[in-house]
Amino acid sequence: MQIHVFENAAQVGQAAATLIAAQVLSKPNAVLGLATGSTPIPAYQELIRLCKAGVVDFSQVRSYNLDEYCNIPEDHEQSYRTFMNVNLFNHINIDIANTHVPNGNAADAEAESAAYDAAIAAAGGIDVQVLGIGRNGHIGFNEPGDSFIYGCHQVTLAQSTIEANRRFFESEADVPRQAISLGIGSIMNARKVLLLATGADKAQAIRDSVHGDINPQVQASILRNHPDVIFLLDKAAAGLL
Ligand code: GLP
Repeated sequence: MQIHVFENAAQVGQAAATLIAAQVLSKPNAVLGLATGSTPIPAYQELIRLCKAGVVDFSQVRSYNLDEYCNIPEDHEQSYRTFMNVNLFNHINIDIANTHVPNGNAADAEAESAAYDAAIAAAGGIDVQVLGIGRNGHIGFNEPGDSFIYGCHQVTLAQSTIEANRRFFESEADVPRQAISLGIGSIMNARKVLLLATGADKAQAIRDSVHGDINPQVQASILRNHPDVIFLLDKAAAGLL
């Protein structure tokens, strides 16, 4: 694995955007695996800038997001579909029909999950997977547990994740309890993985992922087995390495 430590979150975003832009320049119809959360926002802002400057053309790019909450409307202001539209897709020349987010309201979550993995495979697999990391080491919504789950699946959020995401909702009771998430196998199948982490509250999860055992209690630790994974960290997130 490669680890790069930057001075601040803005530089982490620029580095991530540069790597994503390079992928799109070398393969105009690249398949991007995208993430939500506050961490990738600077990277998305830089991609918007590069697109507006005419440096990167997203017109043929396909994207598959990592996860989506269950049981909130797709156009809810906190849905991950809305997040992606507001923070990236509405500002670049991507064809919105080529952007994909799991359907968290599917009547049959298992069928939706299988179809989502199949759609990624049919698109040729993910070229670059962008990840943030939860304070408990989760990636996507793969929460600490007894095993690594291979495929896309419905998950019940950990209490610590509900508390972490509470800031986006009016009350803790409004935070969705379930989500559909790419599995660890789906993530590990990406040809390149970029994990972004900024801020001191991610330092322990980064330390456990890099130096701890490879262990489903810290789901990101499995990334050490990936042949092309790059951790892009600011100094605070790297503070316990
Ligand atoms: C959510 C998302 C993750 C994200 C994590 C951290 O749980 N499902 O994909 O990595 O939040 O979010 P943030 O970047 O806001 O700390």
